[in-house]
Amino acid sequence: MATIKTEAYDIIIENGSFTRLKSELETFTYGTLFFIIDAKVYKLHYEKITRIIQTLAAKIILVPHGEQSKSFETYRQVIAKLLDKGIKRDDLLIALGGGVIGDLTGFIAATLYRGIRFIQVPTTLLSMVDSSIGGKTAINLPEGKNLIGAFYMPKKVLIDPLFLKTLPDKEYKSGLSETYKAALLQDATLLQKLKAGHPIDETIIKQAIDVKKTIVAQDPLDEGYRHILNFGHTFAHAIERRYNFKDITHGEAVAEGMIMALKIGVKFNQTPRGLMEAIEQLFLEKDLVAKPLLDYRDFLHEIKTDKKVVQDGLNFVFLSDYQKPLIKKIDLRDLS
Ligand SMILES: NC(=O)c1ccc[n+]([C@@H]2O[C@H](COP(=O)([O-])OP(=O)(O)OC[C@H]3O[C@@H](n4cnc5c(N)ncnc54)[C@H](O)[C@@H]3O)[C@@H](O)[C@H]2O)c1
Repeated sequence: MATIKTEAYDIIIENGSFTRLKSELETFTYGTLFFIIDAKVYKLHYEKITRIIQTLAAKIILVPHGEQSKSFETYRQVIAKLLDKGIKRDDLLIALGGGVIGDLTGFIAATLYRGIRFIQVPTTLLSMVDSSIGGKTAINLPEGKNLIGAFYMPKKVLIDPLFLKTLPDKEYKSGLSETYKAALLQDATLLQKLKAGHPIDETIIKQAIDVKKTIVAQDPLDEGYRHILNFGHTFAHAIERRYNFKDITHGEAVAEGMIMALKIGVKFNQTPRGLMEAIEQLFLEKDLVAKPLLDYRDFLHEIKTDKKVVQDGLNFVFLSDYQKPLIKKIDLRDLS
């Protein structure tokens, strides 16, 4: 078992840790436990989940799977159900699912009664290595993704890699590309292990989390340094918007976005061509992207109309070498 301590919460990473959730909760005093669960995960892990729920006399709310559940409508519906089931301020919420459930539950926890405690139990690789860490919670609006949200830390993150056994290949690769992002930004040994085909186990998950944790600790409110986690994400968000958040996973878009960022780095003399070519080749070999690759010039319209892009330029994350990211403001007109 690995335990990572952050200032605000512990992150437990251990195969089978979900089945001993009861003992993990012993340090908390609470009235009732409320699980908010991805309906697909509930079905796939029905026996394991219902056993735990019975042992803890918990109440549950199921949420349909998919990005469309990170909406104001679902937020409102889940809150109505929680109130109907008598939730009180000293109760505890548990998010059981991928990044969608984690972001939605976190936002509910941040806002209901001006804040109630919550625990993250991520079930996708992406949510284990990325979205459950760092305290960003959000829902989407028709105008854009993650436009309403809050920084709100969970009280604990409990990672049980055994959940990954049912994860479809497409979703697995989605999480893998965020794991590669962590390795490219900050961890050379993680990159070596991934290149060598090391299985995605507790140690790999821990290393990827360590990268995110270290970066977040230096800039918890995303005011500067934390932007480096956006490596590949400017274009990833544009790609996701173009595809209406369907048919392409977040991680697939991030892998394409990282290659685009490297190509733009070559254009702006920030990234050596050899580095760009080596990473593109690696991503193709690992099947994170496929030919024909997307062209960043086709997504400039989405970038220019992104509500989060600053008017006077775009803070862009370049990679000048392995584990050497840098943020520079660029003029969007220079991208065409
Ligand atoms: N808060 C953050 O810092 C942060 C960071 C990155 C991404 N995100 C957000 O996370 C979301 C993406 O997260 P995601 O990729 O986990 O998506 P997701 O939650 O939609 O899960 C992907 C799919 O996998 C299914 N699934 C979940 N666990 C499973 C399991 N164990 N077995 C089989 N199927 C399973 C889900 O039902 C869903 O169909 C996006 O909304 C993104 O904006 C947030």
